[in-house]
Amino acid sequence: MTSNKLSKRIRALLDYEDNITTMIASARFGGNGECDCSKDRVKMNVSENRLVYDVLREKMQKCTRSETWEDDMFMYSERGGVPELKEAIAKYLRATTRAVMPIDPKQMVVLNGADAGLEAFGHIICDAGEAVLLPAPFYSGIHRNLKTRFDVNVVPIPLSSEPKSGESKPFELTVERAVKAYKTAIQEGIVVKGLFLVNPNNPLGDVYSRQLVLDLLKFANRYDLHVVLDEVYMNCIFEEGIDHYSIFQFKEDEIPDLQKVHFIWTFSKDLAMGGMRISANYTWNEDVFRSLYAIAHFHPVPTGWQRIMTKLLSDTDWCTDVFLPTSVKRLKEAFDHFTTGLTKLGVPFHGGPAGLYLWADFSKFLSARTAEAEIAFHHKVIKAGVEFSPSLLYGGSERGWFRVVFARKLDILELALERIQRALQS
Ligand SMILES: Cc1ncc(COP(=O)(O)O)c(C=O)c1O
Repeated sequence: MTSNKLSKRIRALLDYEDNITTMIASARFGGNGECDCSKDRVKMNVSENRLVYDVLREKMQKCTRSETWEDDMFMYSERGGVPELKEAIAKYLRATTRAVMPIDPKQMVVLNGADAGLEAFGHIICDAGEAVLLPAPFYSGIHRNLKTRFDVNVVPIPLSSEPKSGESKPFELTVERAVKAYKTAIQEGIVVKGLFLVNPNNPLGDVYSRQLVLDLLKFANRYDLHVVLDEVYMNCIFEEGIDHYSIFQFKEDEIPDLQKVHFIWTFSKDLAMGGMRISANYTWNEDVFRSLYAIAHFHPVPTGWQRIMTKLLSDTDWCTDVFLPTSVKRLKEAFDHFTTGLTKLGVPFHGGPAGLYLWADFSKFLSARTAEAEIAFHHKVIKAGVEFSPSLLYGGSERGWFRVVFARKLDILELALERIQRALQS
């Protein structure tokens, strides 16, 4: 960006957008700037569960049909969310996390999405130039949310497809890896203030064990770090027999410093409503709560909308007995269908038991293990009419891996597999 009439801050944001989207934009637009987007491109890059809209539609129609538009639904909302919505979210979290710890709506701030929550926690914990640890590959939005407006850096904890000695599986997150990343950052003069954990993980689909969550909390406590637990996929676990250990499932006295632990949940993933823009941001720390409350001024959710969503979420039985079982059943079907197809094509992957996506290894189809070759492969796939996201966007250190969102109908998955095959053969 060349204009010097705008602020440095906005230039940084625009530069960031330019850099990060160059590879994607150049795939969408030919060298001469001509758009080459085919209307029917299968888009497997956005983390949306597109398998459940029929169930949602039916419920939403009921919720909206019986709604009386009271005067206060047109008025400004209480900052940080209307109490009824916060109570409904707390009820949902109590039911689905099998919470041991009390969940108090008064410690919750509603913002317009988990991205806003991630940005808010980064802003609250770090000054400009300071950093948080984040296992990599990571959800690309975290870097964007932290870096672009408040200049908070991400220090990756690099995970590897090849387990090191002492590790039992690919991409295993261990305390040893966290300590190493932390110490290296400190030696480089970086001020590290926090650890962000996404559990279940995006993009890997892993669910952390109870022991690992505890060990990471202890690690963070040892180095005086805040921990932000992004648990937005907590009810997107589609394999049976897998337990997710939400922070609410621990006893208070098990957690080394609850004052430094914070939590994020959203309507976007569990409930497949990314367009509705509602997140719950929870903390045990009074100052952090006051900060979230102050930030909520910038991220309001429309009042009438909050009331309708309250109605939907208050029907806990519908959530736990109708919606979530349907959602995970369909996710499992889609995952099995898509991974069977990928295996036939000779594409290894890391995926399950959770999430809407898997982490697929196309490295053997790259001309070289370089960023350029990864982008070239990305373009090739797009030309074949299917789109998913390169590891370059996710801070992944191994070239050739892509995040592919499989939460699509089976006929769409079939079409995608055909097109991937075409790309691999071209
Ligand atoms: C791990 C994670 N956190 C947060 C978000 C953002 O969610 P929201 O739509 O509520 O902003 C996403 C969206 O993909 C995500 O994957």
